[in-house]
Amino acid sequence: MSQTLKAVRGTRDLLPPDTALWNRIEAAARDVFARYNFGEIRTPVFEETTLFARSVGEETDIVSKEMYTWEDRARAQSEKSQSLTLRPENTAGVVRAAIEHNLFESGQLQKLYYIGPQFRRERPQKGRYRQFYQIGAEVIGPPSSGSESPLRDAEILEMLATLLDELGITGWTLHLNSVGSSADRARYNETLRAALEPVAPKMCQDCQRRAVTNPLRVLDCKVPEDQPIIDALPKIADSLDEDSQAHFAAVRSALDAAGVPYTLNNRLVRGLDYYTRTTFEFTHRGLPPHGASSAGTPVLGAQNALLGGGRYDGLSEMLGGPRAPGIGFAIGLDRLVLTLQAQLDQNPAPRQLADAFIAPLGDAIDATKLQAINAAALVLARELRHKGLWIELGEGSFRLKKSFEAADKIARHIVILGEDELKSGILTVKNFSTGKQTKVPRAELAVFLSTPASE
Ligand code: HAM
Repeated sequence: MSQTLKAVRGTRDLLPPDTALWNRIEAAARDVFARYNFGEIRTPVFEETTLFARSVGEETDIVSKEMYTWEDRARAQSEKSQSLTLRPENTAGVVRAAIEHNLFESGQLQKLYYIGPQFRRERPQKGRYRQFYQIGAEVIGPPSSGSESPLRDAEILEMLATLLDELGITGWTLHLNSVGSSADRARYNETLRAALEPVAPKMCQDCQRRAVTNPLRVLDCKVPEDQPIIDALPKIADSLDEDSQAHFAAVRSALDAAGVPYTLNNRLVRGLDYYTRTTFEFTHRGLPPHGASSAGTPVLGAQNALLGGGRYDGLSEMLGGPRAPGIGFAIGLDRLVLTLQAQLDQNPAPRQLADAFIAPLGDAIDATKLQAINAAALVLARELRHKGLWIELGEGSFRLKKSFEAADKIARHIVILGEDELKSGILTVKNFSTGKQTKVPRAELAVFLSTPASE
């Protein structure tokens, strides 16, 4: 016997009824995005490796350890082989697409959202997968479109608070920081490099390397022994120039005015290199923010954020495009589902049932009769479904008892359709919650099945 095959480690099949929750979240997100005037963008799931190396950064964990990269061989003389990568995130692809399609030329602010899979070779655990899903949005445009304004940052954060509230997520915290302009960051990197020199030898291997190559990344370290050393390092807030300080103050005051609560977190530098100025993460009760030393109670098993994002004022230029500041975020959809599931488990919703199960009463011996009654049942189901009812269709060769057993689990009513019913146009309907059996004329059936009074 051949070996059974399983989904690859870190990937999952999503099955009903769970997929209903995924769809509900995606629909709620699309609804909120429409109200904030965002349009959908769909970019390819794989891109040239260089795109991520240049934007996310060579020194980040994502690019240095976690990407699914392969050499795509040329299939014809006219083609070159090239290094391709399954997208580990979608911001780089969105900005690449905006440049490629000259979206910035209109002078308008581009407000784009996406929903789709991303791929990172991380150590799988609850809430962390190798194929995971993000719902994200980006606001980008030339400076003349107002893309640099702190109002854009506040609006994005207010939109996220609205989405989480409308989804019914309780107990979220917005962690907020500013990593300054690229000049501020460069200055801070040097300050950190100097401060790390004497202490780095006492730190973990990764930090020893980062202290030299990209000191900012030291702030992401989660090794418990390193935390007191990191807490004593100079703070990024002290390296911000006046403009960056004013920008951050304006973001905070707009959030205060809108009543969106937040917590300042000066270690929130995020794990991607393209960020400038505002950075943020939303955590759920028990999930500490990226790089925070407090362990918290990992309600969902994962030690990470529900979503993250920030400003990336230089990304377009890094990818060869015009100056086009931007800000965006990505929600970890898998984690949002886990959070909502955990909440729903405490307060389960009643199971959704079909309006009716149609049970054709066929003749198991006479194939012609069976075929005729099955076809008649399909016609009845079609009629009712076209009227908006949720119908499950049985099978004429089933004994009546088997049809009742199947129907009882999935529908509120069973409609019996035998030869007599077909001739008379009067159908027998049983309501499972009341146990009542009623004769209903076919013309009145849809109304009968959808009226609560029929219970
Ligand atoms: P990120 O922080 O790398 O940012 O990912 C955003 C969110 O995706 C995380 O907060 C987490 O919820 C989810 N996530 C990340 N990795 C995994 C995983 N292995 N399994 C499950 N969920 C995961 C970005 O990706 C940026 N592109 C966000 C952004 C958009 N910044 C500006 N615009």
